[in-house]
Amino acid sequence: MSHFPISRPRRLRAGENLRRLTRETTISADDLIYPMFVVHGHDVANEILSMPGCYQYSVDRLIAAAKDLVALGIPGTILFGIPEFKDSVGSEAYADDGIIQQAVKALKDAVPELLVITDVCLCEYTDHGHCGVIHDGEVLNDRTLELLAKESLSHARAGADVIAPSDMMDGRVGTIRAVLDENGFEGIPIMAYSAKYASAFYGPFREAAESTPQFGDRRSYQMDPPNAEEALREVALDIEEGADIVMVKPALSYLDIIRRVKEKFEMPVAAYNVSGEYAMIKAAAQQEWIDEKSVALEVLTSIKRAGADMILTYFAKSVVEWLEE
Ligand code: PBG
Repeated sequence: MSHFPISRPRRLRAGENLRRLTRETTISADDLIYPMFVVHGHDVANEILSMPGCYQYSVDRLIAAAKDLVALGIPGTILFGIPEFKDSVGSEAYADDGIIQQAVKALKDAVPELLVITDVCLCEYTDHGHCGVIHDGEVLNDRTLELLAKESLSHARAGADVIAPSDMMDGRVGTIRAVLDENGFEGIPIMAYSAKYASAFYGPFREAAESTPQFGDRRSYQMDPPNAEEALREVALDIEEGADIVMVKPALSYLDIIRRVKEKFEMPVAAYNVSGEYAMIKAAAQQEWIDEKSVALEVLTSIKRAGADMILTYFAKSVVEWLEE
């Protein structure tokens, strides 16, 4: 490379047209998945206090929201359910008339062009708030797998397009793949939350999904934030077990993980720009300490630049509106 004064990198930054032509990373509706929360009831749209602009919707209002996503050109949504009753084994998670099963049926009926991904986990459905079955204060791995498989199959039967297990039990991708295949759902992809960390950034989500653990924390199953090689082992296992898309979560404090996963595996990589990442920007913008649009677009672009092919983000609708401005 030649040096100054021959080389002047500022030449290519001089005007917007040159900046557009030399831009390496762009973000568009094609990259985005919008998460939504669904509750029992009719005509419900409860705004989530720590996630301004995000709601718990009843199925009828969810359909209206889904139509908005299609109008904006957003390809997909990921659904989280809030059950009517919680119990120790999360029964509503795999009930045929559970909230997610109802929501998926209604969405595939009313808005078939929207991709419906379902989050598979037990924490929203258990009275203790953990992602699996508890025995003597411990989350049992293998017993939980049976329930996750039942939950996945009931989502598939309801019409889910993609199954996304977020529980972090060992072996769940293989177990779910086998059950789907045995039941004729070999065409349904699995988006695995492969490197999911025990993060403090999930706080607002737990308010939204009413899924805060009632004792202890999730560190015996979600990953320890300082670990990167372990993330690569987790991703390798999920790919061996049949994952079609691998996810890193959260996104912003884990950009290095996104990059390493993309480089090592050359698989479709999803990144989850989680609730706490959203809430921080919203809160600071409300104080007028930062500019919401600029900061959100900068953050999402950095996630894409790190290597994510798709981003799950509560900013999805705003992004498309900003890009259309
Ligand atoms: C369920 C689940 C969580 C999130 C997605 N799926 C919460 C958790 O693991 O505690 C977090 C999403 C967010 O914070 O936006 N296991």
